[in-house]
Amino acid sequence: MKNKSYKKICKSLDDTRVLAKKFASLVPNGCFVNLFGEIGAGKTAFVRLVAEALDIKEKVTSPSFTILNEYHTGNIPIYHFDLYRLENEGVKTITDELREYSSGKQLTFVEWAEFSQNEIPFDRIEINVTYDDEDNRCFEFTSQGAGMEKIIEGLEN
Ligand SMILES: Nc1ncnc2c1ncn2[C@@H]1O[C@H](COP(=O)(O)OP(=O)(O)OP(=O)(O)O)[C@@H](O)[C@H]1O
Ligand SMILES: [Mg+2]
Repeated sequence: MKNKSYKKICKSLDDTRVLAKKFASLVPNGCFVNLFGEIGAGKTAFVRLVAEALDIKEKVTSPSFTILNEYHTGNIPIYHFDLYRLENEGVKTITDELREYSSGKQLTFVEWAEFSQNEIPFDRIEINVTYDDEDNRCFEFTSQGAGMEKIIEGLEN
């Protein structure tokens, strides 16, 4: 299986909103998404904008302290993990949850996915967020596993 990538520069939060809306439209049956990028890159912002596109009513906040936030008021459930506080060792305590939300009809986002190492072997999309100045962000999407390349192709078109 060949991994495909798609890179998009967003010059403003509104650009990111457009990208998030497009991504949301490509995953009507859910997807597992790993997010990478340094503090303040825009991982939570992207999840918030995808949630907005899926009509989630609640305010999406960073799950840094709770590890997992859930949203059930939109088109499909969203499970939003942040592994930053768990680091490598702590991730073992939530492996079951990660596996539970790895397939099926929900959208799962994992911030600081680098701490999950080999705990996430699932088919997934990986998003690497980088930034150079204030509102400029680069979102690079990569498919990992069966069928995921279709999402990348959807972003390209
Ligand atoms: N083009 C853009 N896309 C996304 N966010 C942007 C953009 N321009 C500015 N921002 C701002 O950058 C900040 C990104 O913060 P955010 O909490 O999403 O980062 P994060 O990657 O989740 O960091 P952390 O690792 O601390 O969880 C937000 O305040 C957001 O409004
Ligand atoms: Mg965050």
